[in-house]
Amino acid sequence: MEFMGAPRLLIVSDLDHTMVDHKDQLSLLRFGALWESEFNHDSLLVYSTGRSPTMFSDLRREVPLLTPGIAILACGSEIFYGDTMTQDFGFIDELNKGWNRAAVEEVAAEMNLKYQCDSEQRPHKVSFHVRKEESAHIMPMLREKLTAKGLDYKLIYSGGLDLDVLPRAAGKGQALSYLLKKLKAEGRAPQQTLVCGDSGNDIELFGVDNVYGVIVANAQDELLQWHADQLGDKSHIFVATERCAAGIIQAMQHFNLRPNVSPRDISVPLSVHDKLAPKPDGGAVSREVVEYLLLTEQWLRGDIDASEEAFRRLKFGLAKESNRVCPWGVIENPHEEIDTLRAQHGSQKGKLFYIWADRVRSIKLSDDSWLVRFDKWERSDAGLTCVLTSALLQANAEFPNGLYWRLIHETWLKGYEGSAALKG
Ligand code: GLC
Ligand code: MG
Repeated sequence: MEFMGAPRLLIVSDLDHTMVDHKDQLSLLRFGALWESEFNHDSLLVYSTGRSPTMFSDLRREVPLLTPGIAILACGSEIFYGDTMTQDFGFIDELNKGWNRAAVEEVAAEMNLKYQCDSEQRPHKVSFHVRKEESAHIMPMLREKLTAKGLDYKLIYSGGLDLDVLPRAAGKGQALSYLLKKLKAEGRAPQQTLVCGDSGNDIELFGVDNVYGVIVANAQDELLQWHADQLGDKSHIFVATERCAAGIIQAMQHFNLRPNVSPRDISVPLSVHDKLAPKPDGGAVSREVVEYLLLTEQWLRGDIDASEEAFRRLKFGLAKESNRVCPWGVIENPHEEIDTLRAQHGSQKGKLFYIWADRVRSIKLSDDSWLVRFDKWERSDAGLTCVLTSALLQANAEFPNGLYWRLIHETWLKGYEGSAALKG
């Protein structure tokens, strides 16, 4: 389940060309590490995409996308909650008012419009492809015909190609307003909200009350033009100079939404040095998970030197008397097993290799112990694997996050199994 309190920060982001850069996944990994280590325990991540549930699942298999707390799909016409993707049918009831899908189809037939693929045709979204050159005469004609049928609709043109016909109560802005109203009614109004977009269907997001917004550097003309046409104070909208998720991080820095430096952009602290670590909280637990996985990745890629200090951080982060139930069934002492990692330094150098954490959640068990669970994803030339992990962390002020690992229990996620040989 997503975070159930009042979110400290609500990020509402479009996916294609905003959160997701189809040319480069590093910025997404940078954002992911920041979100999981600093925000996932008290904030809420919402995706708002034009994609249908089918195409959203496809994307999740292609890129290292975090599991969102809430997914607003099909251009703000469907809302789903939590890991189970439970649909909000109350929202559907609102969309049904004044909507008549068959009437839209009749008009489309009359005008001989070109439909997008079947998966993108949804109960409250009819989608076409219309070339930029044609859009100027097609849009008014379509408007006229839909209005003549008495429909309460809206047209949204994105990316210089996609045309969506939606009920008036749908769209990314309406869906977000609906969600904010609902959160408020539950006493869960977010302290701050940041909306993120790159194209026409994101325009509405920037008009929602009391939000900060970021237009990523690679935005489409239609969004930039809209921004240029806005009169008055636009200081709540930041036009990033960086692409996609890197632009989102840049906006967090611009609006001072903290913390806003990704663990991937600084070196992972290897020791506590002079002072002892403060008493751990939920944030420290998440940070420990993200940093430990990141350090393992950096060790294997050879991004950090094979120093004694780095290896000690990896080894002594695991209690001497710790146990690990491996996904392949054996129980071992990870403190001893980790010695095999020493020789593997740099073994992934120059190769495709990333490790990241998703769904990091923790609960305090006692004054000095925490139960944490997370998904450990690994992408390499050998494929994509995922280990569902539960672990017991114990307070120990001598470690960077004031915690070390006592018990680790791992199982493969079905469909993403690896082999014992890939451990490390
Ligand atoms: C996504 C959807 C498409 C929609 C577009 C713009 O690409 O798959 O159906 O038209 O977003 O909202
Ligand atoms: Mg987009």
